Amino acid sequence: MDAAHVEQDLVNILFTEKQIQERLDEMAQQIAADFEGRDLLLVGILRGAVMVMADLARALPRHVEMDWIAISSYGSGTKSSGVVRLLKDLDTDITGRHVLIVDEIVDTGLTLSWLVNSLGSRNAASVEIATLLRKPEALTMSVEPTYVGWDIPNEFVVGYGLDYREKYRNLRDIATLAPHVYT
Ligand code: PRP
Repeated sequence: MDAAHVEQDLVNILFTEKQIQERLDEMAQQIAADFEGRDLLLVGILRGAVMVMADLARALPRHVEMDWIAISSYGSGTKSSGVVRLLKDLDTDITGRHVLIVDEIVDTGLTLSWLVNSLGSRNAASVEIATLLRKPEALTMSVEPTYVGWDIPNEFVVGYGLDYREKYRNLRDIATLAPHVYT
């Protein structure tokens, strides 16, 4: 889906499909250099990270394995409840593995702080984070991604995996959602 198809729902485009691909290419080069000589397992967080995982993995000039995990954070209808539940675990034994968690956004940090702790207790050789977006103003937990595509303002963004009520995930670009859509 192109931004033009939902133009009335969007305030502005933050990052175009082309800009996203270029930034992921840069991140992939850095990741490849940093993990040279080490095995690498990419762990994607369902469902939003599907697009980032697909493009970041293909931009890497080396072999990687991929696995997926699904997490639900809920309680009082907000993500800030601190309650996290594992919906789908990894199929891979990560003992001794170098794990790079791939996500499309760090918002409050709740999801990733929980996941880093969870995977860290499984005797992985290392657990690091790559995220396309980060909202520094929204961060309430201590999460330190090694790779960040862009820091963005604390606005409601959709597209490229990011949804509002399961819509807009298939938008090619990343855009700010118009308030009239969610108010
Ligand atoms: C999104 C996103 C991150 C998380 C970030 O997932 O994929 O994993 O929220 O928010 P946080 O930093 O406040 O925890 P979401 O729970 O919306 O599920 P989804 O991936 O299925 O969209």
